[in-house]
Amino acid sequence: MPAMTRRAFLASTAAGLALAPLGGGRAAASETRLRAAPASVRLVPEPYGETPVWCYGGSVPGPEIRVRQGDRVRVVLDNGLAEDTTIHWHGLRLPNAMDGVPDVTQPPVRPGETFAYEFDAVDAGTFWYHPHSNSMEQVARGLYGVLVVEEREPALRVDRDVTWVLDDWRMTQEAQLADGFDNAHDLSHAGRLGNWATVNGSSPGEFAVRPGERIRLRLVNTANARVFGLEFRDHRPIAIALDGQPVEPHEPEGGRVVLGPGMRADIILDAVGEPGGRTPVIDAFYRNREYRLLDLAYAAEPLRAAPPDRPFGLPPNPLPEPDLEGALRHETMFTGGAMGGAVTAEMGGRMGPVGPGSFWFVDGEAVPRGPLEPMLTLRRGQSCVIAMTNATAWHHPMHLHGHAFRVLSRNGRPAARREWRDTVLMNPRERVEIAFVADNPGDWLFHCHVLGHQASGMKSKIRVA
Ligand code: C2O
Ligand code: CU
Repeated sequence: MPAMTRRAFLASTAAGLALAPLGGGRAAASETRLRAAPASVRLVPEPYGETPVWCYGGSVPGPEIRVRQGDRVRVVLDNGLAEDTTIHWHGLRLPNAMDGVPDVTQPPVRPGETFAYEFDAVDAGTFWYHPHSNSMEQVARGLYGVLVVEEREPALRVDRDVTWVLDDWRMTQEAQLADGFDNAHDLSHAGRLGNWATVNGSSPGEFAVRPGERIRLRLVNTANARVFGLEFRDHRPIAIALDGQPVEPHEPEGGRVVLGPGMRADIILDAVGEPGGRTPVIDAFYRNREYRLLDLAYAAEPLRAAPPDRPFGLPPNPLPEPDLEGALRHETMFTGGAMGGAVTAEMGGRMGPVGPGSFWFVDGEAVPRGPLEPMLTLRRGQSCVIAMTNATAWHHPMHLHGHAFRVLSRNGRPAARREWRDTVLMNPRERVEIAFVADNPGDWLFHCHVLGHQASGMKSKIRVA
């Protein structure tokens, strides 16, 4: 493990992690206590005041939990909020009872109660945790953190292993979180977009690098609604994992790393700039709304003449390969949202019945069902292809719990790398096919990770029997 990683790990230990090796045959488990509670943190620099938030362990993001692949993870959630909560382990393939969805996989954790989550870290990669109870508000208020599962054997030689947690906040002029977490306009449009972006809970302005160093940068989008599209100017980031799952190393299209809400990307960032130089990192996803996230600020002293010239790549995780020939095929269509009628009609769909607070529909009225009935029931071990049509005018990052899926195609064109993901960003009017093996029994949510969309109808469930 590179020195910095060890330091970051120790730092998070000091921030409230207690390491308690458990006996027995399994690899040592780390036990973490996470208290969800209100706190005040500095999101915006002086002369503004601190911002009241809800968070884990008194900080935003919450403590970074680091374990090694194969470790047993044990986390005790302590609910210091005035309302119910849970923790969902986003992207982890774990037993259903540990998935953290209130009233689906566990009873909600009431104020003052605790709940112990315990599971094996089967996949290495960059994952994160957040509540799944009133998540539209709880995540927006700051409840989230990163879970890094390190490869069993150090797989990459990098100088630093760094996490950037990306978020945006909707602030008032007094640096307070703006109310109205569930206003109808946000719900029916792009969701709660913020006006203040943070990296690891602050807006540092710069990130110090040394000429010639190689960084593994773990990017995590914890925003409720914002899609980030990071550009590194004359640097050429190479993606090595998406949503935690290793991918054939490649330069993202146009050099831009795109992350919808919930998504992660591990990139290799080679510091090719000049000593003393600065390179702005721009978030350029929304047209004409580009802004400078921070600068890479180069030290005067190079680490070496140039970044190492050696290949990189990560060993695959133990994912079952879907059998595409024998797979069950399921068609699903997303409709609704502002300006939805025309797009839906154009895409050959019908709108669902509009009830109060419902703006989005999975399969509209084609499959009438109650909110808790599964859209699909699969046999354990069955391969499944879901062909999704986004018949709306909006982006939707669609997330499946408890599994990773391959992205097979977009608008009928095979996906270049058929990458594994747990969240796929669908463009307006796009058709995306995904495939997975239903190897994890239980009821699993399948929903849009724009949390306001999820809360207003864009949510469904897949049952693995
Ligand atoms: Cu990160 Cu169901 O969500
Ligand atoms: Cu959505």
